[in-house]
Amino acid sequence: MSVASRPALDGKSAIVTGAGSGVGAASALRFAEEGAKVVCADIRLDLAEETVRRIEKAGGTATAVAADVSKEDDVIAMIAAAVDRFGRLDILFNNAGIPTPRLGAKLEDHTAEDFERLVGVNFGGIFFGSKHAVIQFKKQGGGGVILNTGSVAGLVAWGGSVYGATKGAVHQLTRAVAIEGAPFGIRANAIGPAGMPATNFMAAGGLPADAVASEKTTQQVAASHPLGRAITAEDCAEAAVFLVSDRALNITGVIVPVDGGYVAR
Ligand SMILES: NC(=O)c1ccc[n+]([C@@H]2O[C@H](COP(=O)([O-])OP(=O)(O)OC[C@H]3O[C@@H](n4cnc5c(N)ncnc54)[C@H](O)[C@@H]3O)[C@@H](O)[C@H]2O)c1
Repeated sequence: MSVASRPALDGKSAIVTGAGSGVGAASALRFAEEGAKVVCADIRLDLAEETVRRIEKAGGTATAVAADVSKEDDVIAMIAAAVDRFGRLDILFNNAGIPTPRLGAKLEDHTAEDFERLVGVNFGGIFFGSKHAVIQFKKQGGGGVILNTGSVAGLVAWGGSVYGATKGAVHQLTRAVAIEGAPFGIRANAIGPAGMPATNFMAAGGLPADAVASEKTTQQVAASHPLGRAITAEDCAEAAVFLVSDRALNITGVIVPVDGGYVAR
């Protein structure tokens, strides 16, 4: 037995969406640390490029791609970029997502445009990503891994009605892809984070800048979790590394809450 362990993702070709910030950036960095070659995809190319710079500075291999995951052509091009650059696709982490446009908005406050954007990015992005990853996995053979970012908001009624419904849809698509993909060696799982005050998500939802990641917001979020700590992007990245690695070879169709016990109550 060797004491040194092999990197969990040695030589794998991976795509992370929403890789310019938060969970996506933390996961892209951890995937690279574990030996993966990473396509960092984001609607904001500048942010994806910044993540690539951080990975390269740490000695890893990565490339940036601009992609709006709600657009099928962008998703097709993103997967082609991974195949062109790294020869194949082993892992797709469908992580990009957007919050309720005005945090705290009630169902009746959502406009038709809010609805279309939430469904288009949060559910459409995972539909297009999963569809084209499965096509690529079947074409190249040897299976493949899909990981989706859902939310505790898809498990309990928290975090916004339409937003939560899109995340419930993500969870259900995850299970369905897992069952359809199993005969082909394709695994599909999801993580379900609880509130993460330190990413850019809450600001994207309209939380005032002085409240984002403030001590008060962090404490409020932490207090709502049985373990008493706010969830971080790094917490999610650790769960992601495990689920996309061969260490989880016999795990498919599960939604793993990363929530400090929030939904266990
Ligand atoms: N932060 C939270 O409280 C929280 C809680 C539960 C689940 N989540 C989920 O975690 C995931 C990541 O969120 P985060 O907290 O890291 O947020 P974040 O805002 O810090 O990062 C999201 C990234 O996705 C990118 N993005 C947005 N729309 C995109 C699109 N159409 N195509 C491609 N990229 C796009 C953004 O540019 C950004 O870089 C999301 O799916 C979110 O729903 C977040």
